[in-house]
Amino acid sequence: MTEQNVPQNKNTFNIPEVIPLLPLHNVLVFPKTMIPLEVTGTASVLVDEAMTKDRLIGLIMTKTEPEKPHVYTKDDLHSVGTCAVIMKMAKTMDNHTQMLLQGVSRFSIEEIIEGKPYQQARIKIIEETDVKDLETEALMANLLSLFDKILKLSPFLPPEFGPMAKSITEAGTLADLIASIINAPVEDKQKVLSIADVKKRLKQLTLMVNHQMEVLELGNKIQNKVKDDIDKNQREYYLRQQMKAIKQELGEGDENTVETDEYRKNIEEKNLPEEARKEALRELERLSRMHPSSAEYTVASTYLDWMTALPWNASTSDNIDIAKARQVLDEDHYGLAKPKKRIIEYLAVRKLKPDSKGPILCFVGPPGTGKTSLGHSIARALGRKFVRISLGGVRDEAEIRGHRRTYIGALPGRIIQGLRRAESNNPVFMLDEIDKVGSDFRGDPSSALLEVLDPQQNNTFSDHYLDVPFDLSKVMFITTANMLDTIPPALLDRLEVIELNGYTQEEKVKIAERYLIPRQLKENGLSETQFKLTDKALNAIITGYTREAGVRNLEREIANACRGVAAQIAEGSIKSKTLTEKDIAVYLGPVRVPTDLDARITKPGIAIGLAWTPVGGDTLFIEATAMRGKKGLALTGQLGDVMKESAAAALSFIRTNAEELGVDSEFFDNMDIHVHVPAGAIPKDGPSAGVTMLTALTSLLTKRKVKKNLAMTGEITLRGAVLPVGGIKEKVLAAYRAGIRTILLPDWNRKDIADIPENVQEKISFHFIKDMMDVIKLALEPAIEKKMKKSKVKKNKPAVSAKKKIKLKPKIIKHKK
Ligand SMILES: Nc1ncnc2c1ncn2[C@@H]1O[C@H](COP(=O)(O)OP(=O)(O)OP(=O)(O)O)[C@@H](O)[C@H]1O
Ligand SMILES: [Mg+2]
Repeated sequence: MTEQNVPQNKNTFNIPEVIPLLPLHNVLVFPKTMIPLEVTGTASVLVDEAMTKDRLIGLIMTKTEPEKPHVYTKDDLHSVGTCAVIMKMAKTMDNHTQMLLQGVSRFSIEEIIEGKPYQQARIKIIEETDVKDLETEALMANLLSLFDKILKLSPFLPPEFGPMAKSITEAGTLADLIASIINAPVEDKQKVLSIADVKKRLKQLTLMVNHQMEVLELGNKIQNKVKDDIDKNQREYYLRQQMKAIKQELGEGDENTVETDEYRKNIEEKNLPEEARKEALRELERLSRMHPSSAEYTVASTYLDWMTALPWNASTSDNIDIAKARQVLDEDHYGLAKPKKRIIEYLAVRKLKPDSKGPILCFVGPPGTGKTSLGHSIARALGRKFVRISLGGVRDEAEIRGHRRTYIGALPGRIIQGLRRAESNNPVFMLDEIDKVGSDFRGDPSSALLEVLDPQQNNTFSDHYLDVPFDLSKVMFITTANMLDTIPPALLDRLEVIELNGYTQEEKVKIAERYLIPRQLKENGLSETQFKLTDKALNAIITGYTREAGVRNLEREIANACRGVAAQIAEGSIKSKTLTEKDIAVYLGPVRVPTDLDARITKPGIAIGLAWTPVGGDTLFIEATAMRGKKGLALTGQLGDVMKESAAAALSFIRTNAEELGVDSEFFDNMDIHVHVPAGAIPKDGPSAGVTMLTALTSLLTKRKVKKNLAMTGEITLRGAVLPVGGIKEKVLAAYRAGIRTILLPDWNRKDIADIPENVQEKISFHFIKDMMDVIKLALEPAIEKKMKKSKVKKNKPAVSAKKKIKLKPKIIKHKK
């Protein structure tokens, strides 16, 4: 390397009008500052020639990056540059020229002079005049303090710059020095270079420095935060390792850490929703600090077990193939055309609009009519998991929503428990017996159910135990109930009721043949050849041993018979058995249900009514009798207020219309009347027995028996009008099962006949009544003529008692007169 030192001249230079021009890209030199520079090619030539003359060159910044070699015009270059003197120059081996330059003064280009191999420029020196006034001083002081701050903030600037800057007294030089030092874009620096006016230059620089400081401050802040975070993580890790070591030393083993690690892994793997994840990690944090044998530890770990076991994201994929669904429903259940149709429609809508928030289905009907098992079928048809919880007797809101986990032994509510069991967040979820939800001082479970069943809010269902929302919106809820009356109205409003009213004898036979008998054979280990049941025997079981709308007891009786036969086969006394009607009593005991209702209508004063109960319809006997007394009306048989009032109204009606009805109007003065509704232990209520009460009383007082195989239902008014009642379908089916063939119904209930299976409709003759007088005409046997009575009495010995009574009563009346 060759080196040429240039002796430092005094500070004054005689700058010529034309100097060689060295355009630089992205490099800027301020007057009175030094800069090292390396050049090659034509620039080298320029430097060499300058060295032979006055060592002065004009440095000027290009506006854009030039293509090389380039002939510059004025437009390519900034207008102000710096004239510099070459202080030192050296050549490297590869013919590069290295030099140290010092800025001398600003110049502006007047004209570019073409030349080879480099360009020259006619320039005009911009003289620097020193200003010394208050404003300049203030600007300088401000600039210096900002510069100080920058020096503190940026680690790469040597702090010596501070005192150096302070020692400068000329405002312009200070500006140039700071501008050359700070880390700002060259374009901005060029702006400062271009400003000749010192005050303006200071102001422009102040802006730049301020901006620079903001950038630095922000950078520092970010840097510190990142550092803090890293520090915290490292600290935590360090402490954790220490704790592990301490525990190991204490011989407490590291089950705790193993367990926490396991939970941590589970939490990450299960991909919990953000809120749940935070809560779980917080609990985990607590857990890691506890001793494994503390009670608290169990509470925390149970909580984490729940959190990690719940199907936050796990769901089964639906396969909604309508044809297949229909097939599954038909496979599992006989009949039930209406419910099945509605279910298929429901599934079809789900198929077309998977995110539809359809209504919540509610199957309502007597026990054993297939509500729960329909739910199973729906799950099977959809390919979803099935969970069922029974709400019967649930009185505590916490059973639905869970207890706060601060209680030892606290658990989530049944909804969350059900989902954990299902292991999927979109099961078919059956809420059984929703009509039996109670409420007391422990809160109202139905209000929690409102949230569960409301598609608008159940995506953030909050369980007290989990304390974070769980999304129930994918769950398909189905509810069941025996009756609608006890479902709170707000809850009922969210449900779409589908009725399953009970089966006819024929339907029961079919269900038994297709489902119940095969199932019981399997359960009892019998083959089809070992056990058979004749049609008549099956019918006998249904009528003589069961009295229900559903088929649960029927299945039980079939199971009974199967067990009996199985026992015999196991003993070896028989090989197989075909049960006939006669055998039934042997296996099932004596007939339990009185089949012949008519046998009970022995005298006037007995009428058959129809009742609706949560377990289906039923027949209801009403018996009235009269005895000597003082106008009393006794009512027995656990009757409710409404039923008692019906009886009083019926009696008043008869007294008012005694003459028309053929009742002795003075009868009431001397007699007590007693109305009894047997099955006295069962509470009964409701207005629908009004018509029957009136019929029984009229029958008693006119001594006309009620016709055979006839039953009735309806409410009465004091004036004798017949008002409509509910539960017609169940009542008619029950009457049909009991062998009734004539039914009197309120005229208003005419429309309900459509719901009754056709085969039943065909076999029963319905009479629609508006007025009590019609009931009396239709229901009672004609009055017995006096003569006929006599002849009958003579012929028929056993009828003596009847004769006696007939005689007795008028006697009493007379007597009383
Ligand atoms: N239509 C039917 N076809 C086949 N089996 C039936 C039918 N209806 C009911 N069953 C059978 O009767 C039994 C009782 O039904 P399930 O348990 O569904 O009654 P439920 O309506 O839920 O009664 P509860 O109101 O008492 O809960 C089940 O084994 C079911 O399979
Ligand atoms: Mg059920």
